[in-house]
Amino acid sequence: MTDRFSQSRRLFERAQQSIAGGVNSGIRKMEQPVPLYFARGAGSRLWDVDGNEYIDFQTGQGALLFGHAPAGLADAIAAQARLGTHWAAQSELEIDVAERVQSMVPGAERVRFNNSATEVVMSALRLARGLTGKRLVLKFEGHYHGWSDEGLVGFAPPPDQWGSDDEPTRLHPSKGVISEVLDQFVVARWNDPEHLRRRVEQYRGQIAAIIFEPALCNTGCMEPADGLLATIRELCDREGALMIADETITGFRFGASCAQGYYGASPDLTIFGKAIGGGVPFAALAGKARVFEPIIRGEVVHAGTLNANPLCLAASRWCLDQILALGPQHPAGLQRLGAKLIAGLEALARQHSIPLQPQGPGLVFHTAMLKPGAAHGPIRDYRDYVRRHDAPRWTHLRRCLLENGVRAIERGLWFMSLAHTDADIDEALSRSAAAFAQHAAGWKP
Ligand SMILES: Cc1ncc(COP(=O)(O)O)c(C=O)c1O
Repeated sequence: MTDRFSQSRRLFERAQQSIAGGVNSGIRKMEQPVPLYFARGAGSRLWDVDGNEYIDFQTGQGALLFGHAPAGLADAIAAQARLGTHWAAQSELEIDVAERVQSMVPGAERVRFNNSATEVVMSALRLARGLTGKRLVLKFEGHYHGWSDEGLVGFAPPPDQWGSDDEPTRLHPSKGVISEVLDQFVVARWNDPEHLRRRVEQYRGQIAAIIFEPALCNTGCMEPADGLLATIRELCDREGALMIADETITGFRFGASCAQGYYGASPDLTIFGKAIGGGVPFAALAGKARVFEPIIRGEVVHAGTLNANPLCLAASRWCLDQILALGPQHPAGLQRLGAKLIAGLEALARQHSIPLQPQGPGLVFHTAMLKPGAAHGPIRDYRDYVRRHDAPRWTHLRRCLLENGVRAIERGLWFMSLAHTDADIDEALSRSAAAFAQHAAGWKP
């Protein structure tokens, strides 16, 4: 049998002689049967170095809201590159981008730019502590806020160490973290407003901020329970803490006013990444003007050599102009295609008796694979996810999908892009039909 990934295997072997572990972000090692090497992308499609074509739903971990290499974006970057890639100084472009964000996002009275959402989270937490003079940050189990010492607290704790349902432990998945950092966090379970109230009560007067993904997309895909975002707002107001929405994934994907508009929330600070740059290293912190005062006064440091570099700004301005031009068509169009893909995958799962359970608002969604005997129905939080999701079985189906030219994210997430069309979804479903049959015939628990 020919190996359809032979060139990727060859490059991965070569890479390990120069690149530590062969990859430049740990998660990329998860790809089975081998981390793939890509040659080209266009719109909804991606081609690897073996010439395999994929209909892509990984879309650069969600950054490519406008698809692969859109011509307008390439032109905007190329035109700017000829004028200068980096000035470490001001340009009118940065005001253009700031004003566009301001016009779309209700809570974005002021912004600051960085190059990754990990950095923006660091800025947001520093600012919250600087402004409030308090120490603790409450975050939710299974939520991901970048890979820094602070961002990863409470992400993916192993079940034998995760503590009671009432008092989730604060664990960090990495060695080498400054251990005192963990003491600066309180971890709560997602989607349980009464539990959240009790957690805040335990630490009254000490909480500087509550940070969250408005729709949890880094562990399954779990929209906020009714009343949860309002409870976070109420508790933050009562405690004098900042409500920080990490919209790295949801920002501009959930419409021009982002997840805060979609769910009707009003955070004090918002983190943007991914789609705001359409695939270039660009990220932003946005929020109420009064909250930015410590940065404006220079009491809280915010810096970066490459912040607001013109290449990324030119890309971001193009991306935001696309969102503005779509008006009310966005996110409705994206959502309709996502719903069609979900319905098609559900039908295939039924046909082949595969316990696949899609969940999410369509703009992005997750396909959980239920363990034998696990209850059907929406997954509510990280613990529920670990108890019910059959990761090895999903990995097998994901590989079958890949071999049939459909690329979802290793952990089961699917991102729609504005480059996907009805014809793409039809083709993705017919390719998936072959993948589901292959999985049903080949899966051994
Ligand atoms: C919700 C969320 N916050 C922060 C980050 C970190 O973003 P970056 O990888 O740009 O640093 C991510 C990345 O996936 C994310 O999903």
